[in-house]
Amino acid sequence: MMEKIVLASNNKKKITELRTILGSLMPDCEILSLRGAGIEGDIEENGTTFEENSVIKASVPARLGYIGIADDSGLCVDSLGGAPGVYSARYSGKGDAENNKKLLSELSDKNDRGAKFVCVMSAVFPDGDTVTARGEVSGMILTAPRGEDGFGYDPLFYCPELGKTFAEASADEKNAVSHRGRALAAFCELFKERICFHQNKDRF
Ligand code: IMP
Repeated sequence: MMEKIVLASNNKKKITELRTILGSLMPDCEILSLRGAGIEGDIEENGTTFEENSVIKASVPARLGYIGIADDSGLCVDSLGGAPGVYSARYSGKGDAENNKKLLSELSDKNDRGAKFVCVMSAVFPDGDTVTARGEVSGMILTAPRGEDGFGYDPLFYCPELGKTFAEASADEKNAVSHRGRALAAFCELFKERICFHQNKDRF
């Protein structure tokens, strides 16, 4: 049976990346964006954890009979008690540049610059069965931005495993160690098993 998977996002970069990876894992699946499945509007991310938010997003297509897949990610800073966390995108309310400025200002009197990026990826099946995988990468928040590539907090996030900031790394270098790369690798393993289970269950 041709499975229909809906990636619960309208972010083109995210969809292209996930479509390539999932498409090679499951060539007999049709992979749609939210819009491609006729689901309009933004999904409200009102959870308090990355897990909750990714499941909230993936549940929307699942309720319509698709397999929903979504991720949620953010930056957790040790000396800020894990902030901005699930509020990373909305930290300043004014976009990436202001988010970075706010972060530097909040850390101006802090010696502990430890932080981690977290990404949680979930799949929700139409019967409510849920698969969740988490990826993390630890690093430090610099006192000034470095590098031109990437997005979000990348220029402030120094990754010891790479010896540079995420904004100084190539996409391949970043993907090899990043929270998203790690969550996706763990997720694919679990998802492959789970989809086989569902296909066999439907057969008998
Ligand atoms: P979302 O998972 O697309 O909702 O992203 C949450 C927010 O976390 C983004 O808008 C960024 O501010 C931040 N973020 C998540 N992943 C990264 C990353 O790889 N680099 C820089 N910022 C990130």
